[in-house]
Amino acid sequence: MASGIVVGPDQSGRALRTTRGPRYEVAELGFRHYWYPALLSRDLGATPKAVKLLGDNLVFVRAHGQAHALFDRCAHRGMVLSAGQCLAEGTITCPYHGWTFDVVDGRCVAALTDGPESSVVGKLTSWNAPAGTKHWESSHRL
Ligand code: FES
Repeated sequence: MASGIVVGPDQSGRALRTTRGPRYEVAELGFRHYWYPALLSRDLGATPKAVKLLGDNLVFVRAHGQAHALFDRCAHRGMVLSAGQCLAEGTITCPYHGWTFDVVDGRCVAALTDGPESSVVGKLTSWNAPAGTKHWESSHRL
């Protein structure tokens, strides 16, 4: 006898069965290292955009024509980077104390309140998340 759950008859009256797959509890918030749509490409510019994805708060910006994502948390005191600005191409500056991160690799490249001799430059990293643009055709199914 076939195991499974009866979901209803087909057009000929036979019972359709489906098996219950394993529960993927670890995937409750999605699978890491997969692509997920986050924003429409046309909506992403040099103004930081906050997006919550897979339970993580991320900030997206476009720099040098590419989409980039960082965790939306400053490595200094945890202020949301999405409240900051992109004062120089390829960077995002925290609004709190002005620490500035490279959006490609998350390195701290400046601490505006400390000046050019800041000891934190190059020593801290705001974690970045892989981001990019995928062009979805209308025929793609999720
Ligand atoms: S919290 Fe971001 S620079 Fe201090």
